[in-house]
Amino acid sequence: MKVTIFNGSPRKNGNTAAMTSSLKEKIITNGGAVKEHFLYHMNIKGCMNCDVCHSSAGLKECAIKDDAIPLLKEFVSSDIIILATPIYMWHMTASMNAFIERLHSLCRHEEPAVNKMDGKRIAIAMTMGDDEYVAGDVVNSLLFFCEYFKLRYAGAFAVPFCDKEQIMRPLYQEKMQDFVEKIMKK
Ligand SMILES: Cc1cc2nc3c(=O)[nH]c(=O)nc-3n(C[C@H](O)[C@H](O)[C@H](O)COP(=O)(O)O)c2cc1C
Repeated sequence: MKVTIFNGSPRKNGNTAAMTSSLKEKIITNGGAVKEHFLYHMNIKGCMNCDVCHSSAGLKECAIKDDAIPLLKEFVSSDIIILATPIYMWHMTASMNAFIERLHSLCRHEEPAVNKMDGKRIAIAMTMGDDEYVAGDVVNSLLFFCEYFKLRYAGAFAVPFCDKEQIMRPLYQEKMQDFVEKIMKK
């Protein structure tokens, strides 16, 4: 099972990276193959609404030829997607949001309709300085996203009051294990 983690933190050795490092171990133990991409360190612009991707003949590759192009292919070829992000200002980070905007190029609702995200499983894993409630809008927006683009929402995992010790506490390690088992269940 191919699992792809898109990490929206700017810190390659930060809290979110510590969380994904532990997540990756559990995914591998559960029999998955996992890759992680650090979005902040790539050249990824937000969608410019040129609509070149929504050609009348069907879907066309996104017109912005930056680092999102290979990542969009990774997204489509994955069985499970995990969006890993710290909460910045009650939201996912700007780099995560820019990448998500680019998913616009994977679905055309008008005839001839094409949806390269249809049925794909997606989950979200977050770290935050405060309690979990700060992630409410992020989880809600992912639910709207899944409904509109017909992805299967696989679940959410959060480490509140996060630091590296908190991630390793038995409570969060157990919750993480449950999260991994849940998202990888067929
Ligand atoms: C610019 C910025 C905004 C933040 N906004 C929030 C917030 O709205 N709510 C919260 O609980 N924590 C907030 N935090 C704290 C981070 O979510 C938390 O420290 C997180 O674990 C950092 O992960 P990282 O090390 O991967 O960047 C913010 C941190 C920064 C730098």
